[in-house]
Amino acid sequence: MKTLAARELHPNEPVPAAAIGGTQDVFYARRNAARLPMMVRAEGIHFWDEAGERYIDASCGPMVSSLGHGNRRVIDAMAAQALRLDYVFSRVGRNQPNQAYAERLARLAGPGFERVSLSSGGSEAMERALQFARQFAVATGEASRRRVISLDPSYHGATIATLAISGNNAGAAFFDGFATIADTVPAPMTYRLPAGHTAESWERDCADALERKIQALGPRSVLAFAIEPVGGLSTGALVPSAAYMRAIREVCTRHGVLLIFDEVLCGAGRTGRFFAMEHWPDARPDILVVAKAIGAGYAPLGATLVPAAMADRLAALTGFDFSYSYNANPIACAVGLAVLDEFAREDLVAQGRARGGQLEAGLRSLAASCPMVGDVRGRGMLWAVELVRDKASRAMLPPDWGAVDRVRNHALAHGLLLYSRATSGGRYGQWFMVAPPLVASAAEIDDILARIARTLEDFTRWAATAA
Ligand SMILES: Cc1ncc(COP(=O)(O)O)c(C=O)c1O
Repeated sequence: MKTLAARELHPNEPVPAAAIGGTQDVFYARRNAARLPMMVRAEGIHFWDEAGERYIDASCGPMVSSLGHGNRRVIDAMAAQALRLDYVFSRVGRNQPNQAYAERLARLAGPGFERVSLSSGGSEAMERALQFARQFAVATGEASRRRVISLDPSYHGATIATLAISGNNAGAAFFDGFATIADTVPAPMTYRLPAGHTAESWERDCADALERKIQALGPRSVLAFAIEPVGGLSTGALVPSAAYMRAIREVCTRHGVLLIFDEVLCGAGRTGRFFAMEHWPDARPDILVVAKAIGAGYAPLGATLVPAAMADRLAALTGFDFSYSYNANPIACAVGLAVLDEFAREDLVAQGRARGGQLEAGLRSLAASCPMVGDVRGRGMLWAVELVRDKASRAMLPPDWGAVDRVRNHALAHGLLLYSRATSGGRYGQWFMVAPPLVASAAEIDDILARIARTLEDFTRWAATAA
């Protein structure tokens, strides 16, 4: 299938800038935005552009639209709430959807996550986790705890504070003198191991690195350790072992460091459990952050879950000082409730697990036959396909090939929207994400796999000319 976008625009052809206004992508690098289709309609796992071409939403945008598009029950709940009560600021009035949603989410998360602060997305929810941790430390006589440790690579959001704790920022010039960058320890990536290490010994070393870093920074200096329990784009869906997760939990407990799980991307059913933390019952975080798929693209929604013991103690001391105008927006909360209803009604976590198995098998078989796929990793319905120059040596692709942008454009020509972006300047490798809606049928998963196969054939052909 050839799309209009693919026929009319050469990959390197600049898009004429609008004289005034323009869509959001006028802010993005031209080479990446050149071929973005203008979407006018969506239903199920499909989009249609203004020329009537159809595309499959194969990574839910950036892993957001887990219910697919046009879910009538969610839309009706949103409309009904908008008609009843559109907005009330959380510091001047309460709203029932806020109360009901916080209760449902906390019940799903279980003991230790009784209080839920709602915001408008992943960056805000992560920022809120940092604000809460810091204010709790200050209020309880631990003001010296101000350092945050994260993984290199990692991604935690696009506000200045969350960018600064994201261990994948190549933007030293951006941050120099502008924000305090977090201390990092290596992410336990095992596809390429440092010399002399096995996967197990490297993971152990990565967990030890956390302890060494905390000790180096000094007693009562470290506030929190933030980690994506299952990686997103930054690591290419890295799934750490149970031993690693247990080890970092123990290190944090030993040093009074709060463990924050950033499940913005991997939460809400994406990895085969509702929360990714359920994969490691003996390594629970202190603070849990979710977003993206809890609003499923129907409303901007993020949630920061903390223990009642902490929230209530802070409320009795200074109280938590910070709020956003859109905290616990009633329409967003009504959407959140309707999304949880859909999870229950369609048993979406189990469905995602089943389709995830099909997707994994298909991707592994593609990897076996494609000379340019070095690794397929992930869990449930969250997969990364890592591209390599040489399978045997695991040699990375040259960064100047712009490989993942090319793959994205080849996919577009096959009616497939894939989320891919070179992260960390390609230092750790290059991969694209496959994370379809949890509602995708078995036939739709097969269709996605067939289109990925054609995309990889195109890319391999192109690479042969570039080598
Ligand atoms: C792990 C992780 N944390 C935080 C964020 C930021 O979320 P948002 O884009 O909703 O602000 C993202 C977004 O991709 C993410 O993947």
